[in-house]
Amino acid sequence: MSHITERIDFYVGRIKSGRIQEMWRQTKWIYTYARRYWLAMIFYTILGLGGTVVSLISSLVSKDLVDIITGHQAGELAKTFAMMIGIAVFSIFINQFTSYASSWISLKVNNEIRSDIFSKILITDWESLTNYHTGDLLTRWSSDASSISDGVLSYLPSLIINIFRFFSAFAMVIYYDASFAVFALIGIPFSLLMSKTLLTRMQNNNQRSAAMSAKMSGFNQETFSNIQTIKAFDLVRLYTERLKQLQSDYLKMRMEFSRMSIWTSIILSMVGLLVSYSSYGWGIYRVWSGAISYGTMTMFLSLSGTLTSSVNSLASMIPSAISLTTSAGRLMDILDMPQEDYSNLDTAKEFLENHRNEGVSLSIHQINYTYQTGTEVFKGASFEGHPHEIIGLVGPSGEGKTTMLRLLLSLLPSHGGEASIQSVNGEEIPLSPSTRQFFSYVPQGNTMLSGTIAENMRNVKPDATDEEIIEALKLACAYEFVEKCKDGIYTEIKERGGGFSEGQAQRLAIARALLRKSPILLLDEASSALDVATERKVLKNIMRDTYPRLCLVTTHRPTVLTLCNRVYAIRAEHCELLSNTEVDQLIKDF
Ligand SMILES: Nc1ncnc2c1ncn2[C@@H]1O[C@H](COP(=O)(O)OP(=O)(O)OP(=O)(O)O)[C@@H](O)[C@H]1O
Ligand SMILES: [Mg+2]
Repeated sequence: MSHITERIDFYVGRIKSGRIQEMWRQTKWIYTYARRYWLAMIFYTILGLGGTVVSLISSLVSKDLVDIITGHQAGELAKTFAMMIGIAVFSIFINQFTSYASSWISLKVNNEIRSDIFSKILITDWESLTNYHTGDLLTRWSSDASSISDGVLSYLPSLIINIFRFFSAFAMVIYYDASFAVFALIGIPFSLLMSKTLLTRMQNNNQRSAAMSAKMSGFNQETFSNIQTIKAFDLVRLYTERLKQLQSDYLKMRMEFSRMSIWTSIILSMVGLLVSYSSYGWGIYRVWSGAISYGTMTMFLSLSGTLTSSVNSLASMIPSAISLTTSAGRLMDILDMPQEDYSNLDTAKEFLENHRNEGVSLSIHQINYTYQTGTEVFKGASFEGHPHEIIGLVGPSGEGKTTMLRLLLSLLPSHGGEASIQSVNGEEIPLSPSTRQFFSYVPQGNTMLSGTIAENMRNVKPDATDEEIIEALKLACAYEFVEKCKDGIYTEIKERGGGFSEGQAQRLAIARALLRKSPILLLDEASSALDVATERKVLKNIMRDTYPRLCLVTTHRPTVLTLCNRVYAIRAEHCELLSNTEVDQLIKDF
């Protein structure tokens, strides 16, 4: 006895803690989207129920028709025949209308899930997000969202419709000849048994298949965006082979699953045949013994088809629930990651408007930062900067310069310490994602987006006039080459700044940052691809600009250091203020 209770406890525990509860959470999540379309879903259900009723009526009418022909029932042949055709035509329209309604709803749900996920990905904590390959994110955003939107609509309505189909057909069978009910039920245990085997394998298979698609899409995406490197290292064959390997792994897995589905379908179809032939035999016997009419027999045959198909549809809802919830789980993984806090947005906006004209200071005090991977970069780092200053951050590669800029932009959250923006009259606002509007950032590497130069510029300042754009380009020494382009500022930039040299793209990126007129400008090795003369000219232009800007540059170049008001060296997880002699020494050492 205790053994039995133990078993029960075991299963209850499994249900509570395990996959079922997970599936329940995922189902609830799916329905947060679906419920917005409850009206459409009710409509869809009613259409489906209507279709079922029409098909039942049509079985009845065809029974009448057969009975009229075989003389069992007096009636008007032509009228019944016309009615039958009418019903058939009506059901064609009902079916098409249902499929139109269902595609409308699934497209709407698809759009909604995708735009929701898109905006949530954009506000997800940056470091957590970098744990995912962009190919993986893309697959989740596209295929998983589609699989949910395709399945979501049909799920609840199908459940109701199929249950209704089963019971109404069953009731009709019982009404006309209860002995047929036995045949209607024969198939059920088989269907359930099959779906159980299918279920266990499917759980695994779905997750593996999603993971593999993600891997493949990541591989393709990375290959296509690095074609130059692949060609340069003569890796074309290697990459082609790798794709073939991925494809063959995927194929193997899909075929394994397909074989299993085929066996399941074969068995289910055999059972279906068995059921229909035995009811056929039983029907013939009943007609022969005079218990029922020919018409009733044909009706039973069509009803037995309805019964088997509704049971099969119900059974197949289990695997489809699994694939839906697997997709939901993969999207929830992303949505469950920590999100950035923008609660200070209005305060920050007001602060910026109040102090935009006199500029702001930056105060970093005793901040720490360790990456999730465990790399400790800062421990008690401090520095400050004020309007009209150029502050230099120097340090060997990998010491933490870019990390510091990410901390200032709150792309990374500092662990302890204080980091804030201060106004000239001493007001203060802590750094957060909301304070990004104070900064213009020129990151390391080429970060121009595809579109025209003007579009890239207007991304950061939508109302910029052509003159303002040209002015910014001139300050960044970019106008000298833009001017020579046939379309001027309307020249197209290709993907990732393509069509321009590194140094040109850097100057465009600097111009974009200058156009934004933010009180703090962050330049991360932003002039590294420029020749010394151009670099000095750009920095001098920035200084000469009357806007009270605080400029923070990370650099290796001595030429830049001589222009800085203060230079901090990143050393031993601190920011150390260098004396003039140390800076001179640094310049000499280059
Ligand atoms: N996304 C990341 N996840 C984990 N560790 C990182 C990440 N980015 C940088 N690091 C680590 O943090 C340290 C500082 O990197 P950072 O990019 O700030 O250096 P840097 O001073 O800008 O170097 P460089 O001059 O080469 O640009 C390095 O040890 C690096 O390995
Ligand atoms: Mg760097």
